[in-house]
Amino acid sequence: MRFIILTLFPEAFKSYFDISLIKRALSKKLIKIEVRNLRDWAKDAHKTLDDRPYGGGVGMVMRADVMDRALTALKSKIKSQKSKVILLTPQGQVFNQKLVNKLADYKTLILICGRYEGFDERIRKLVDMEISIGDYVLTGGEIPAMAVLDTVARLVPGVVGKFESTVNESFSDGLLEYPQYTRPENYKGMKVPKVLLSGNHKKVEVWRKQQALKRTRKRRPDLLR
Ligand code: ADE
Repeated sequence: MRFIILTLFPEAFKSYFDISLIKRALSKKLIKIEVRNLRDWAKDAHKTLDDRPYGGGVGMVMRADVMDRALTALKSKIKSQKSKVILLTPQGQVFNQKLVNKLADYKTLILICGRYEGFDERIRKLVDMEISIGDYVLTGGEIPAMAVLDTVARLVPGVVGKFESTVNESFSDGLLEYPQYTRPENYKGMKVPKVLLSGNHKKVEVWRKQQALKRTRKRRPDLLR
């Protein structure tokens, strides 16, 4: 799977892609990441990407013509039909695991990170979808782009090994994950539930399902609606 990130700050991504599962996925060529600087498509000598808003007001607005040139150039290199251009913005569809699962079916994702006060509205016409990672405002779309890349890359076969499996984890079945325990069996009087020591796999499975439901009902009743 291929990810193309369009940003004003390519350097923001380097350290994150150089650790843990993403680093391994890159070296095993399970995923490919290209980080491109939007400024490369600015035409004037000052490499201007933004301008003052028509009608007045504070802040600068990202220009649609620069974005259009960047996307046209990037899309012309993509052979597969299975690609999606995603704009990261607090006004987008709120991100969740269901959407992650859908995005994992694509061959190429182009992730556009915004900066400045906002976008020229016409940029919205150039993209396939808009995603928000939550109801709060970040200084830019770089962290949201990393969140999308990270969550989708985990679902690419081979990225997460069988020891770190994506099968039994929070949201994999629409529920929060059941409680987990490891040694010691008794820690400061807090004991591991007996059923987990019983060796009875059927009972363990039933207990875990009940616990997942109980926990979800208590912490995230919205997931059960
Ligand atoms: N850019 C700034 N805030 C954002 C958010 N919550 N989600 C996606 N992109 C953003």
